[in-house]
Amino acid sequence: MSKDIGIDLGTATVLVYVKGKGIVLKEPSVVAIDRNTDRILKVGREAQMMLGRTPGYITAIRPLRDGVISQYDVTLRMLQYFIRRACGSLLFKPRVIICVPSGITEVEERAVIDAATQAGAKHTYLIEEPVAAAIGAGIDISMPNGHMIVDIGGGTTDVAVISLQGIVVSESIKVAGDKFDEAIIRYVRRKYNVLIGERTAEEIKIKIGGAWQREEPRTIEVKGRCLVQGLPRVVHLNSMEMPDALEEPITAIVESICSVIERTPPELIGDILNNGIVMTGGGSLLYGLDRLIANVTGIRTRVADHPVSCVAIGTGKSLDHISVIPEGAVNISRQRQQR
Ligand SMILES: Nc1ncnc2c1ncn2[C@@H]1O[C@H](COP(=O)(O)OP(=O)(O)O)[C@@H](O)[C@H]1O
Ligand SMILES: [Mg+2]
Repeated sequence: MSKDIGIDLGTATVLVYVKGKGIVLKEPSVVAIDRNTDRILKVGREAQMMLGRTPGYITAIRPLRDGVISQYDVTLRMLQYFIRRACGSLLFKPRVIICVPSGITEVEERAVIDAATQAGAKHTYLIEEPVAAAIGAGIDISMPNGHMIVDIGGGTTDVAVISLQGIVVSESIKVAGDKFDEAIIRYVRRKYNVLIGERTAEEIKIKIGGAWQREEPRTIEVKGRCLVQGLPRVVHLNSMEMPDALEEPITAIVESICSVIERTPPELIGDILNNGIVMTGGGSLLYGLDRLIANVTGIRTRVADHPVSCVAIGTGKSLDHISVIPEGAVNISRQRQQR
C-alpha cells in the first residue's frame, strides 16, 4: 500500500496534504543551514525565526524565493524533510503531486520532479498552481465555463483563465507579497529615513497595510535604524499612508489582470463577468485589494474561503485523478489540454 501526498511548494509556505487526512503540515519555506558543516539546523517555523538574525556561520534561506527552485540543494533537503515528516517512514514510497507556478520552464519543472524523486517519491506529478487553486476554491472546472483565478503568494502572482480543466490564458509575474514588504521598506526609508527589516515590514502590511483606505484608520509603532544617526528609532505609521506606499506592486498586479482579460476570448469574458474573479494565496488578504480590483476591472471580485490553504486542498483533491494519468512525471493540466 502506498500513500499519496500533495504538496503546495509555495515561496512563503509549504503545505502538505495527505489523502484521507487533509492538510497535515503547514510551515514557512525556510531552511537554516550551518555553513561550516553544511548541515540543516532547522526547517520551517523555527528556521523562520532565524531569518535576518543569524550569526556568521548560520544562513537562513528561503530557497524558493521567486516561485521556482533557486537553490536546488536546499530545496531538495527541505522537500525530503517535509515528505518524511508527512509520511512517517518511507517504507512505502509515496506518490507525490506538487503544484508549480504556471510560468515555470521545462528546466525548472525537471528540477522539481528530480528533487521530489530524490526525496523519496515513487512517482511525481505536477499540477499548475492556478488549476489547483481553482479546484481548492471549490470551482467546478470541468465545465465549458470560464473562471478567472488570481493567486497572490509570497514570490509570484499567477493570473489565469480556466475552462474545461485547462488554462486558456495566463500570466505569472514575480510581484506578490514579498514585493509589498519591500515597497513598505522603501517607503519608510524614503519618508522617515529609517531602515526596517523584512519581518517588520510584513507585520506592518498585515496589521495596517491596504490597497484601499480603511473606514477607521489604524496606526502601528515600529522600530528601525535611523539612516542619519545610525541609532535605533521608533516610527509611527498610519494605515492612510499604505495605498501610496504599496502603489507600485499593486499596480503591477492590476495591470497583469487587465492584460489577461485583454487576451481572453469574448465568450469567456462573459462567463467571468457572471462568475466574478476569485482570489487565493496569502497576498490576497491585503486589505481592500479585492475592492480595488473590482473597481478597476468592473468585475465582481472575492477572496476564496481559506485562501492560504486553497492550493494545497486543490492539489490534494486532484490526487483522485492520478489513477487515470499514466505513470511517470507528467504535468496534469498540460496533459489535459493536449487531449
Ligand atoms: N493578512 C494578510 N494580509 C496581507 N498579506 C498577507 C496576510 N497573510 C499572509 N500574507 C502574505 O501572503 C504571502 C504568502 O502567501 P502564500 O499563499 O502562503 O505564498 P506562497 O504560495 O508563495 O507560499 C506573504 O507575503 C505574506 O506576508
Ligand atoms: Mg501559493
